[in-house]
Amino acid sequence: MIDKSRLPRVAKAQMNTVHEEELERINTLLTALKESDDNAITKAVESLLAHMKEHFDYEEGMLKNRGFGMFEIHRSDHTRIMNETRMAYMNWRNFRDREALREFIKEDFMEWLDFHIQAMDSVAADFLVQQERAR
Ligand SMILES: [Fe+2]
Ligand SMILES: [Fe+2]
Repeated sequence: MIDKSRLPRVAKAQMNTVHEEELERINTLLTALKESDDNAITKAVESLLAHMKEHFDYEEGMLKNRGFGMFEIHRSDHTRIMNETRMAYMNWRNFRDREALREFIKEDFMEWLDFHIQAMDSVAADFLVQQERAR
């Protein structure tokens, strides 16, 4: 289990909520990897992928067409982890290797999430909060 308090926080509350929800899906998957059958693990990865799509659509929807200079780089960082997670999902379906999936989630994915929130989401949140104030 990864504790919520480990997530970096940004200036926009709704974004923090979305990140906490994503961590809940991660924790469900990590638990399933320890104690559930293959089918439950497959469902947990699918549920994570679905949430990632919502998360990224939500952020990109707010940032698009707003003159936000970092939009493209932010979006491409979402696309990269989406592709890597889809690849991890396909590997799981083909090889059923729990250790490989656990390692991807605990290391690659969590490292990405931590870095992305600090480097991209925090800047996006500041921009959005400023825009809300200026309205
Ligand atoms: Fe985010
Ligand atoms: Fe983001």
